[in-house]
Amino acid sequence: MAITYEGKNKRWFLETENMGYVFGLDEKGKLKNLYWGSKLPRFDDYPGVNDLVVMDRYTWNDEFSVRGEKNNVEHCLKVEYYDGVRDVVLNYVNFEIKGDQLIIKLLDEQYGLSVKLFYRLIEKYDIIERWVELENNSDKEIKIEDIKSASLYVENSKKASLNYLTGMWGSEFHLRKEKINEGSKVLESRVGKTSAYMNPYFAIDYEATEERGKVYFGELAWSGNWKISIQKRIYERIGIISGINEWDFTYILEPSKKFITPKFVFGFSNEGFSKASQNLHHYQLDYILPQDKAHKIRKVLYNSWEATTFNVTEENQKILAEKAAKIGVELFVIDDGWFGQRNDDHAGLGDWYVNKEKFPNGLKPLIEYVKSLGMDFGIWVEPEMVNPDSDLYRNHPDWVINFPNRPRSLQRNQLILNLARQDVKQFIINFMDKLLTENDIDFVKWDMNRHIFESGWSETEVKKQREIWVKYIWNLYDIWKYLREKYPQVTFENCSSGGGRVDLGIMQYADQVWTSDNTDPFDRLEIQEGFSYAYAPKIMMGWVTDWGGKEAYPLEYRFHSSMMGSLGIGADLNKFSEKDFEIAKNQVQFYKEIRKIVQEGYQYRLSSVTNERYFAVQYLNEDKSEGVIIYLRNPMRFGLFDRVNLKLKGLEDEALYTIYEGVKDEEKEVITLSGKALKERGIIIEDSSKKFLTYGKIDHFFSRILKVKKISNNIK
Ligand code: GLA
Repeated sequence: MAITYEGKNKRWFLETENMGYVFGLDEKGKLKNLYWGSKLPRFDDYPGVNDLVVMDRYTWNDEFSVRGEKNNVEHCLKVEYYDGVRDVVLNYVNFEIKGDQLIIKLLDEQYGLSVKLFYRLIEKYDIIERWVELENNSDKEIKIEDIKSASLYVENSKKASLNYLTGMWGSEFHLRKEKINEGSKVLESRVGKTSAYMNPYFAIDYEATEERGKVYFGELAWSGNWKISIQKRIYERIGIISGINEWDFTYILEPSKKFITPKFVFGFSNEGFSKASQNLHHYQLDYILPQDKAHKIRKVLYNSWEATTFNVTEENQKILAEKAAKIGVELFVIDDGWFGQRNDDHAGLGDWYVNKEKFPNGLKPLIEYVKSLGMDFGIWVEPEMVNPDSDLYRNHPDWVINFPNRPRSLQRNQLILNLARQDVKQFIINFMDKLLTENDIDFVKWDMNRHIFESGWSETEVKKQREIWVKYIWNLYDIWKYLREKYPQVTFENCSSGGGRVDLGIMQYADQVWTSDNTDPFDRLEIQEGFSYAYAPKIMMGWVTDWGGKEAYPLEYRFHSSMMGSLGIGADLNKFSEKDFEIAKNQVQFYKEIRKIVQEGYQYRLSSVTNERYFAVQYLNEDKSEGVIIYLRNPMRFGLFDRVNLKLKGLEDEALYTIYEGVKDEEKEVITLSGKALKERGIIIEDSSKKFLTYGKIDHFFSRILKVKKISNNIK
């Protein structure tokens, strides 16, 4: 049994394949976290409440830490009751086990506040989902000032390091690592969306490598203001608290109403970072992504944004579509500029009718043409936004988020609609319904290009105005849910100025994300490397474009960089030479041959682009019979070498594998070795450092992509 209650010592054991997570009741009836780490052979091996380091002056190790009694450390719950009491006193009531779920009920009896802690075990991936439900069983309002999803604890050691993802527009998902010292480290967003500045992911390790060592990790499933705090005091275990950010937040919980927090998903690997990220990837594919498409292959798409920007017309899109079809593209996406008076980013957002000058006969002729070329058709929208220069804003200036008598500051010349309002939600549903019923659309790229500032909602009661932060996100999720159910044929891509809203919350509704607006094939590698720690390759859309100048990178390098996840093309095909078309066609064909392994397989990082002179990634299918290796030089790291020795991972020792290069009919064998030899001795990539002498020339960048195929199960 994965969830077991031991009555004698009042402990709950949550065990997955390799992980144990234990908490219990102390003599005062308080829930204490006792253990999180490798699964131990017997229940008796796990610690009990008397094994905790106990601090007399304050509480620690609370399974659900609240502001109350002797607790003033980071907590999950802070409320104000009707009479001004701000201490929460929660006592254990009972528990229930329902299949893979455990529910613990706690109660603040005096004030009728009931708290349910939910745990769901994902045994195969050593992951637990945690969330909380508050219910007001009194006849008075309860003001929630802070409600987090979980508190967790990991071992305290000088070796402990925190890994997290940070960045900004155009350079999202940069991985950082730092020692955890006493005090608090806060990862958070306060801009109303997940943000490019930090991503709700953390990992704590103790000098772990890709293959070895303990890694504790977690992700919050929330697309609004979020927070992960890591707190250390000198002797206790390190505390981790995560959930909705309490900054500028209050919520009035009315009598008999509930508040459900987002899920905090956490896991453990005793085999380093590879296993940690692989488990997260496969958990996302099997449990988070919309299941109707989670295991379907992502099509190769063409997006015309970088080619035509706002100047889209029926003619120029048809020309691009024809060229895209020629190289094997399966989905043609028209981006910004097709609606309202949208000729640049100063006008049109909010006016979701087709621009008659650009598309005199509506979208139909283009859609039909795209379909006649054998491709699906996709379209860009940014429903949450409005330009002041739009009919929508002229008609509904009250719909935007603002404080009266205060500025309405613009970002990218736009304001943000208050999606917490039901009428705004309905407006978005209506125009999306119209768009998707009137046109044969297979794919929607949903963008969101600014932050929330000046977060006023004056049309609602003052005491409820700060609820805007959560109600906005709940309504956003409702709309996505509605659209998915009504239009099951549509694939949804989530975008927010690139990777500004990437999290497990939105991924419950989106099939993939636009990773970053930075499509420079080399600069993007650091983004993609960081992304790989937290999110599955299939979710990561990468385009082959002309960034950095068409002459700066070989077209193959641009393709190989984009093949690490789901492949797209965004280059201006009108500038392609015959040779470029030939290369592109060949690369798209190659990608189609390997994409199942990239999108559904197990990813191994063979190096780090920030530390090494190359970035290499390997993918392996489930039965270890087929793999892919992508190698890209990092020419910014000088070193006198002619060859790079790549050691492969995950292969079966005793099996024989051949490494090939090239598309199916032209495959060339590179080498045949046993799995063990490929891991221990590795393969050689010819990559001469003398190429440095060509700095500024195109062959400064070099890449290779190889196929791995098992040819025999046994070397003997
Ligand atoms: C954002 C997106 C881009 C593109 C533009 C269109 O920046 O990230 O991919 O769609 O908007 O305006």
